[in-house]
Amino acid sequence: MSRSFIMVILLHIFDPQMATIIDGKGLALSLRGKIKEEVSQYKNSGNRSPHLAAILVGDDGASKTYVNSKERDCDFVGFDSTVHRLPSETSENDLLALIESINLNDQIDGLIVQLPLPKHIDSAKVTDSIDPKIDVDGFHTINVGRLTKNEDTYISATPFGIMIMLEEYGIETKGKHCVVIGRSNIVGRPMSILMSRGGYPGESTVTICHRHTQDLKSHTLMADIVIVAVGKPHFLKGDMIKDGAAVVDVGITRVDADNAKGYELRGDAHYDELVDKCSAITPVPGGVGPMTRYGLLYNTLKSYKRKLNL
Ligand code: GUN
Repeated sequence: MSRSFIMVILLHIFDPQMATIIDGKGLALSLRGKIKEEVSQYKNSGNRSPHLAAILVGDDGASKTYVNSKERDCDFVGFDSTVHRLPSETSENDLLALIESINLNDQIDGLIVQLPLPKHIDSAKVTDSIDPKIDVDGFHTINVGRLTKNEDTYISATPFGIMIMLEEYGIETKGKHCVVIGRSNIVGRPMSILMSRGGYPGESTVTICHRHTQDLKSHTLMADIVIVAVGKPHFLKGDMIKDGAAVVDVGITRVDADNAKGYELRGDAHYDELVDKCSAITPVPGGVGPMTRYGLLYNTLKSYKRKLNL
């Protein structure tokens, strides 16, 4: 037996706390492959391609990157996509008129308006102007309502991707204490609803923490699962979780770095401090991000199948 092999065995014996690294990238790749296959079968039977429309207003760097990758993902799985890139001074009325024209186009299965929108546009009004049937982001008030009532709906992409990861990796959730840090409409709030509802993953006791939470650490130390979505690099430190907790890191922030790119991507969780303490963790990059992208494809395909009665 080689020396290094013995070392690995000894490490496992004396450090049973080796964390499972949740490979969102690999999982998304395999699930996207399944979507691609399914789409190809529909097309071979004479159906049109699924079609996602996206609207991007302004030139926020991160939003541009996200929309570009959504376009590439559509291409990969055989969806058509149309991206409307509008200048930041676009009026709310013009944006609403474009949304209405897309709502009326029965060749389009999904519509997303990339957030954040410029300040002069009312985001809530915009998301509620999308036809709930093609609201594949699941942001419309009707779809959020359905989620809270556990009715069939589009679960927004990030929470959906996280649920699939928890399921695929068999993370126990029933009766567990889940602390969600961040209460955004896009991640924190829907996540808290999903983790507390019946079924698996779910049945957790959920605490939502946010900027006004006092003594955050006292909450996170009690958690079996911590989901952190605050957009602050390395916010969740090693001393904030108990041994064996599972950590889901939603954050992804560019920070300056001394490398060829000039930056590196950092999560909300301090991976190096947490990895030896937790039972499972999603890395950044390669964790939640790719699964979010998969979530949008899944929802678009769901809308397409509903429209075409497939
Ligand atoms: N901005 C950040 N995340 C999202 C998302 O999932 N959908 C949209 N439309 N905008 C976002």
